[in-house]
Amino acid sequence: MKGILLAGGTGSRLYPLTATYCKQLLAVYDKPLIYYSLATLMLAGIREILLISRPGDLPLFRQLLSDGSKWGLAIEYATQAEPRGIAEAFVIGRQFTGQNRVALVLGDNIFVGHGLKRFLARATAQPSGATIFGYWVSDPRGFGVVEFDAKGNVLSIEEKPSEPRSHYAVTGLYFYDERVVEFASGLRPSSRGELEITDLNNIYLAAGALTGLRFERGFAWLDAGTPESLLEAANYVSAIEKRQGLKIACVEEIAWRMGWIDDDALAALALAGNNSSYGNYLRSLLLEQEI
Ligand code: DAU
Repeated sequence: MKGILLAGGTGSRLYPLTATYCKQLLAVYDKPLIYYSLATLMLAGIREILLISRPGDLPLFRQLLSDGSKWGLAIEYATQAEPRGIAEAFVIGRQFTGQNRVALVLGDNIFVGHGLKRFLARATAQPSGATIFGYWVSDPRGFGVVEFDAKGNVLSIEEKPSEPRSHYAVTGLYFYDERVVEFASGLRPSSRGELEITDLNNIYLAAGALTGLRFERGFAWLDAGTPESLLEAANYVSAIEKRQGLKIACVEEIAWRMGWIDDDALAALALAGNNSSYGNYLRSLLLEQEI
């Protein structure tokens, strides 16, 4: 399975933070926002990744992530000049995806909590169809909203409905089978001029091929699209990391624990962060396994 990280958009709600700098590279406590969504793909076992962003922002992503080999990944890049919709990622990524199944994660989404790997494993184990994730929010009107029946089957999905049929927001993490490129290519722009991810999901729903999983109470799904949510996400990560002494979405640690890089490679990465608490943390991982 391949993965797409969608990191375009204008970040207009974060102006002036985003006047010169791209949203997904802003800090969430101790690491760039994009690390969190990248970590989600990695925890799903996905190593071949396409990052899509605005042409002017790509050099910064390349500087940060390079070709991914330092973390045992293969990262490619593509541009989206204008935000013409989330589903356009599959049109842009047509060649990259080929005949593979593919996961898409929005570069401003953060998933933290118990059971994440289990949820991801359930999605990657589906041989066909699509999987989306519902998350209970107090006010779902600003999201895609998914309605479930008593057995947990998806009944409907609507994009930003004024009268939501449930409290379950559709999160920015999606898994699709190899038909996704064909389905996305057939989409027409919505009234707001975008290829809507909700329209794509509705194609799978109509075909009886959509699974909806629900994250449980206590799980954290955060996005970082406004100054408030960016600060809240940073505070959340900081509180948990301080309490546990373990990092969230530390991509170097994930690569190492997955067995994609060895101790020497982790030591070299720690050295690159020599003067930082982040580098010290990476070093501590190696020291603690020796005890
Ligand atoms: O975060 C989950 C929600 O994401 C879902 O519940 C909605 O169904 C889905 O439409 C989307 O809603 P948003 O209103 O959050 O979408 P937004 O336009 O803000 O885009 C989400 C992220 O994707 C944002 O970081 C920018 C990026 N993006 C968006 C579009 C439309 C792109 O990179 N390219 C695009 O063309």
